[in-house]
Amino acid sequence: MTKPVAVIGAGLVGAGWAIVFARAGYPVRIYDGDAGIRADVLAGIQSNLEDLQSFGLIESAEVARGEITVCETLDDAVDGVSYVQESVFETIPVKTEITAALDAACSPDVVIGSSSSGIPASAFTEALEGRQRCLIAHPVNPPYLVPLVELVPAPWTDPAAIQFAFDLMTAVGQSPIQITREVDGFVLNRLQGALLNEAWALFEEGYASAEDIDKTVSEGLGLRWSFMGPFQTIDLNAPGGVADYAARLAPLYHTVAQSRTEPKPWGDDLIHDVEAERRTHLSKQDLASRREWRDRRLMALAAHKNKSSKEIGD
Ligand SMILES: NC(=O)c1ccc[n+]([C@@H]2O[C@H](COP(=O)([O-])OP(=O)(O)OC[C@H]3O[C@@H](n4cnc5c(N)ncnc54)[C@H](O)[C@@H]3O)[C@@H](O)[C@H]2O)c1
Repeated sequence: MTKPVAVIGAGLVGAGWAIVFARAGYPVRIYDGDAGIRADVLAGIQSNLEDLQSFGLIESAEVARGEITVCETLDDAVDGVSYVQESVFETIPVKTEITAALDAACSPDVVIGSSSSGIPASAFTEALEGRQRCLIAHPVNPPYLVPLVELVPAPWTDPAAIQFAFDLMTAVGQSPIQITREVDGFVLNRLQGALLNEAWALFEEGYASAEDIDKTVSEGLGLRWSFMGPFQTIDLNAPGGVADYAARLAPLYHTVAQSRTEPKPWGDDLIHDVEAERRTHLSKQDLASRREWRDRRLMALAAHKNKSSKEIGD
């Protein structure tokens, strides 16, 4: 029988993780420190599971829902589990406290992964007796629709713990990558940050509207990026592959990089101007329904990718 996993923190990301494990047939124990969240979390999960079923992404919302139990205490949630996915607030004091509680409550062979978006595991696990079983398992939101998981060790993380998390993530249908050591923003947010910083700068300098910068990705770069990354993209964009591409265009990219040697913070006036433009396209009260639209688009994309990888191959 598949051993249960625990999800600690049942907000946006924790609830999403519960779906990831449950749809793969793992019993899931959820715990959140907020009684209101504990009372409400299953209703949200149920609705997401029904959406997944309607897009043909799971066979039965009911079966997946049946794998999930909400626990009233941390100890109940971690009893007998093989893995814990911590998804609480992103601050060092909160991560430190919960990870110490988990280290005390879990038997020594249990691996503890944190969803931390940017705080490295070394910032909140150093003093723990079981620090070698702690690591970052950073998902993308919502994790049940975007499969990438960044696995990041602290300097003292046991490679066997990383391997365990890698195998578990693969078994539940996620796409893990292994980052060799800690770096601010890990890989995903460093790549996203490079693009975002350039987008803010181009907008500030008046080269294009926010809408046209967005369109450059949604109607341009992003279409390829949903099935291949930047290295494969350029490998295919020159007759002789990546080295040929570099021979032709490396000087251009170097000139572009040299034009941004002094990065600026995103200033208040700049944020105000981008906010003002965005609100002409989408009112604040429509943000929530637009998020639901985004998730349905992601479900349609996931269904398409499943189908096309069978028909066309990966
Ligand atoms: N939202 C995203 O896009 C995203 C993406 C990837 C990773 N993450 C990371 O995932 C983690 C959770 O983020 P979120 O967006 O789900 O936040 P959230 O605010 O929606 O949820 C956090 C939950 O943790 C609970 N909590 C806080 N302290 C707790 C404790 N000591 N014990 C038990 N429960 C506790 C809160 O009650 C809350 O329900 C953060 O580390 C965040 O950086 C977020």
